[in-house]
Amino acid sequence: MDSRHILVTGGCGFIGSNFIRHMLSASPVRVTNLDKLTYAGNLENLKDLEGHPSYTFVRGDIADEADVERAFGTHVDGVINFAAESHVDRSIINPDAFIRTNIYGTYRLLEQARKKGTGRFLQVSTDEVYGSLGETGKFREETPLAPNSPYSASKAAADMLAMAYHKTFGLPVTITRCSNNYGPYQFPEKLIPLLVSNALVDRDLPVYGDGLQVRDWIHVKDHCRALALVLEKGVPGRVYNVGGGNERTNLEIVEIILELLDKPRTLVRHVQDRPGHDRRYAIDSTKIGRELGFEVSVPFRSGMEETVRWYVEHRSWWERIKTGEYLSYYETWYKNR
Ligand code: NAD
Ligand code: TYD
Repeated sequence: MDSRHILVTGGCGFIGSNFIRHMLSASPVRVTNLDKLTYAGNLENLKDLEGHPSYTFVRGDIADEADVERAFGTHVDGVINFAAESHVDRSIINPDAFIRTNIYGTYRLLEQARKKGTGRFLQVSTDEVYGSLGETGKFREETPLAPNSPYSASKAAADMLAMAYHKTFGLPVTITRCSNNYGPYQFPEKLIPLLVSNALVDRDLPVYGDGLQVRDWIHVKDHCRALALVLEKGVPGRVYNVGGGNERTNLEIVEIILELLDKPRTLVRHVQDRPGHDRRYAIDSTKIGRELGFEVSVPFRSGMEETVRWYVEHRSWWERIKTGEYLSYYETWYKNR
């Protein structure tokens, strides 16, 4: 086979699974997916690809040298690193796994890429590395990094390591920093699937503090299109911000979900705020538009309608997740808030 071989890490999570499906439908590539299957990794997310001739799953840890070597095999044309501990609240409960996976794990991947060589190394980062904005302004690629949570600090550290591998060893690294994603297969600890799945069973909808924090929401499909563009055409050594151009307060998100599900406002429960909570994120995506021609394609209203419908129609998917470990996490984090 002479199609490009892409190593995807963390492909059993939310964005990674959407990305693999996008890549295999859009271009002639071979994909190897290295995933540890932590609480957030779910083989069901890619069940439709079982047996696909261009897809290989390797269960393993990006922080384990032997696992990483095995996943690289003899040759990879590109690496895209999604694998991470990704939930801010869990990083407040215990940052350990965030430091190990997000920093040390990224280092192990960079080392293997340096030894074996690879055409591309795309580090999937987040706008959270820039910290918090006031009422005005947007994050640009030059905005200084000022992370506020153990999660965002670990992602910022990984960005710096990745860029150091570009500068020192010439590794063809690109970095993307995207805003909040929504869409199918998002783990129901994150705001939108948590609210939808709670509302469907008439459970409280926990809103941190006054609920006036602002996030810039982008549909996961658009993020995946941006990632595919950067993987193919991004200039090594560059950072690309990706945003939805769609700022909403958390209370606005709650309102849309209540309206779409025809549920009452009485479900809303204001709870103690998240410590170190970033007030506002907004992304200036001019650069990826200008250099790579990227434009957002999913309008927020129809994207939300489609997403909420997906969780309604895939009830058994989230019901299976919301058991065991999930329930003990939920209890630990929300009980006395
Ligand atoms: P997720 O939590 O849904 O999935 C993470 C995946 O990584 C899981 O499949 C998990 O099993 C795997 N994983 C975790 N530790 C691993 C390890 N040590 N080795 C191998 N695999 C491991 O996360 P997500 O929301 O899909 O986010 C993916 C990436 O995108 C992350 O790097 C995150 O920082 C970044 N990001 C997310 C968002 C968002 O809104 N969700 C926005 C911007 C950037
Ligand atoms: P989240 O989905 O955790 O993403 P991030 O913290 O990475 O932006 O949260 C999105 C916003 O929703 C954030 O301002 C925190 C808030 N939030 C709540 O108000 N209640 C909740 O139960 C959760 C999980 C989040």
